[in-house]
Amino acid sequence: MKNITLIAMLLFISIANLDAQQKNLTLYGNMSLADAKAIKASHPNEIDIIAVNNNEAAVHMSEEVDHLLHELRSTHGPGYTYSSSAEVAIQDINTSRMIRPSLMNFTITEGESVEKALQVISKSNIEDQIKELEGYGSRFHTKSGANKSGNDLKAKWEAMAALYNRDDVSVRIVQHRSTPMNSVVMTIKGAELPKEHVIIGGHLDSTSNNNNTAPGGDDDASGISVITEATRTLFEIGFVPKRTIEVMAYAGEERGLLGSREIADDYGRRNVNVVAVGQFDMSNFKSSSRDVYFVSDSNAIDPSLTGFFQKLLDTYHGSNSGDRITYGTTLCGYGCSDHRFWFENGYKTAFPFESSFSDFQRNNFIYHRTNDLMRNVPGGDASHSFKFAKLAVEYLIEVAKKSKTLSSPEFSQEGYELYVINDHLKFKSQPSSSAIKSLVIFDVTGKRVLKNKNLGNKGSVSLNGFSAGAYVVSLELENKKEISKKVILN
Ligand code: BES
Ligand code: ZN
Repeated sequence: MKNITLIAMLLFISIANLDAQQKNLTLYGNMSLADAKAIKASHPNEIDIIAVNNNEAAVHMSEEVDHLLHELRSTHGPGYTYSSSAEVAIQDINTSRMIRPSLMNFTITEGESVEKALQVISKSNIEDQIKELEGYGSRFHTKSGANKSGNDLKAKWEAMAALYNRDDVSVRIVQHRSTPMNSVVMTIKGAELPKEHVIIGGHLDSTSNNNNTAPGGDDDASGISVITEATRTLFEIGFVPKRTIEVMAYAGEERGLLGSREIADDYGRRNVNVVAVGQFDMSNFKSSSRDVYFVSDSNAIDPSLTGFFQKLLDTYHGSNSGDRITYGTTLCGYGCSDHRFWFENGYKTAFPFESSFSDFQRNNFIYHRTNDLMRNVPGGDASHSFKFAKLAVEYLIEVAKKSKTLSSPEFSQEGYELYVINDHLKFKSQPSSSAIKSLVIFDVTGKRVLKNKNLGNKGSVSLNGFSAGAYVVSLELENKKEISKKVILN
């Protein structure tokens, strides 16, 4: 009897112990079977392998494994992706990629806009923003700097749109279930094909061996700064896209692609027409002979979009260009960044990276470290990222394509603003200026093609049905003066 009690007690204690040892298994996810086995061998209490398919494992793991993997990662092998439950983790290793038809042919037709853009793109803007983002100390997804940087980024993007009078631009915060951090998305509405989306993204969060100090200068303030400067450049040249452009700063990438997964799954579920997804994650630490290395893993990257990115570099930075950008290809293992779940959802992805993967492993000593700062990259500035910003601008212009209505907004000296956007003529007068009595549009032959009266100080006139060509828009003012401006519809 006594013995039985003892055995029962021992059993109870060991079950309780087992419980205590394993109660820190808080995350579900997928990783390579090799990594899962390696971690199971060295840290048996930190991970359970719950299912296996081919070389992938569905696991139940502790937060510690996240760090272990990031350590492993700097020498070999892929990371992991987060799943919200055991069921999802198992489903994730067993489901295959969604198949979608191609929505467009990628062509190079927008040389004029690209050349203009390359004149005004700024390296120092990229440098300023990288430093700004490093300044949060840590953007680890659960730290206060994460959402603070997101809110500030939203304000920065809104201010940028306002500066260039873009009322076709909006910025939204995206909340997530899997992380307290929010993603930030800027949308430039397509003037002709608004339902076709061209996406460019990078991750806003950071990580390090000490998550209180995770400046994430290269990984991935460099990507966020590249996509921001690329977008500002579009505004600077008054570029109005045919297709909708979305600029995405993802939350919680370092914790297993949290933000981008929720967004990509949502777009996939709603069958949003995404024509292309460009990922910019790490662009400022040059450690290979060539400039750009296209990640080419067949399980996360679309070869046709990648080939198109390469053609952009051949066209605008080829061997007889004064602004040469060379490239190669590299592999990063499975799902190493936010492009992963866009790909899983059937969309076309490309990922230009800062160096070859082997040179990265040899040389990038700041990766996921507390000293991931711009001053520690070779050169100490944003020269390397600058090349990626050019590629980003070329991608956005050539895939989204210039809309046929284009004119950059500006206030005339007299205090009137007149511009064409989304097939509409917009006008506005400053409060101190004389009121607008009427608006008249003449074609090149001088024929009056439209007259609107009693317009007030702000409004918009539809230009639907106007054929391409030059027009003169004239505002007749209360004080009898007249202001004219030429607009081109092409
Ligand atoms: N920027 C890295 C991805 C990366 C690293 C690409 C090195 C190419 C070379 C990204 O932020 C990251 O750290 N990803 C994780 C995986 C993710 C699924 C948690 C990684 O690579 O360990
Ligand atoms: Zn990282």
